[in-house]
Amino acid sequence: MSYDPAIPRDRYDNYEDREWLRLERDGHGELLYRVHLDILERYIKPGYSVLELGAGSGRYTKDIVRMCESLTVADISGHQIEFNKAKMRELSLFDKIHSFHVLDMIDMSVFGDSAFDCVVCIGGVIDYLLDRERDGMREMLRVLKPGGILIVGAMSFIGASLYYLDGIRHEKNTFGIEATRWVFDTGIQDAEHYPVPSKHYVHMMRSGEMDALFAQFPLEVLERSSAGLFTQAGDIALENARQDAELWKLIIEKEIAFTKIPGTLDCGMNMIYVAKKSDGEPHG
Ligand SMILES: C[S@@+](CC[C@H](N)C(=O)[O-])C[C@H]1O[C@@H](n2cnc3c(N)ncnc32)[C@H](O)[C@@H]1O
Repeated sequence: MSYDPAIPRDRYDNYEDREWLRLERDGHGELLYRVHLDILERYIKPGYSVLELGAGSGRYTKDIVRMCESLTVADISGHQIEFNKAKMRELSLFDKIHSFHVLDMIDMSVFGDSAFDCVVCIGGVIDYLLDRERDGMREMLRVLKPGGILIVGAMSFIGASLYYLDGIRHEKNTFGIEATRWVFDTGIQDAEHYPVPSKHYVHMMRSGEMDALFAQFPLEVLERSSAGLFTQAGDIALENARQDAELWKLIIEKEIAFTKIPGTLDCGMNMIYVAKKSDGEPHG
C-alpha cells in the first residue's frame, strides 16, 4: 500500500482531547512523556529556531516553546492545529509561537532550505508515511541547518507486538496466520495485508530499519532511546506502581535510564533517534 495523506488526516481530524490527554491519562502516557521531555530538554538550546512536525494537540508544543527562541508548529490535520492553538491560548503561550501550519511533512515548500536549528518529529508521525519515509526524511533534512539537530520518534514494532499480543491473537482469527506473519515480518499494517477496521495504517519500526533509514542521509546519530519500556509490565502493574508516589518517582527515573541501554531499544512502545546534520547534501 502506498502512502495516502487522507489516512492520517482523517484520523486526526476526528480526534479531540484524546490526544491532549494521551500522555497524562495513564502510567504508559506519562512514561512516554517523561522520556521525550528529557531528550527535548537536553538537545534544544535557548537560542534555537525549532520546527515541531506532527505536533498534534500540543502536548509537547507547550514545553518546546519554553525551551527555544522560536517555535514553528505544523501538522497534517487542521483540526489538531486548531486544537493546539486553543490550548496554547489557554496557557498564554500562543503569542510565543512563531507560526502554525497545516501541511504534509513530505512537502514543506512553505519553508526555505536550512531554516531551522532543530526539527522535532515525535510520537509516531513518520510511521504513517509508509513508502514515502525517505521523502519525509529528505524534507526534514532540507529545512534543517547544517549542524542542526533532528529528533525523530517512531512506533516500535517489537514493543507494540509484546504489549498488544492479545489483540494480535484476535486479529489472527480475523485475517489469518499469513497476515499475522506479514505484520511480524514487516511491521506494516496496511489495507492490503492487515486491514484493521480503524484504518490505522502504519509502518511500525525496528531499530535496524531506523538505522538503515538514517544511514541514507548525512546524519550522525547522537542518541538512540526507547520509550515506554515499563509499559511492558502491563496496565495493572503500572497503575498500581503509580499509586505509590515514592515507587513511581523511582520508576520514572529508571525508565529514563534503562531506555538508553542499547538492549532495550526495540522493547519499548516508541523509539527516539537524535541525529546531527552534517554539512553534506542529502543523498537519499
Ligand atoms: C500520534 S500523534 C503525535 C502528536 C504529538 N507529536 C505527540 O507526540 O503528542 C501523530 C500526529 O502526526 C500528524 N501527522 C501524521 N502524518 C503527518 C504528515 N504526513 N505530516 C504532518 N503531520 C502528520 C497527525 O495528524 C497527528 O497529529
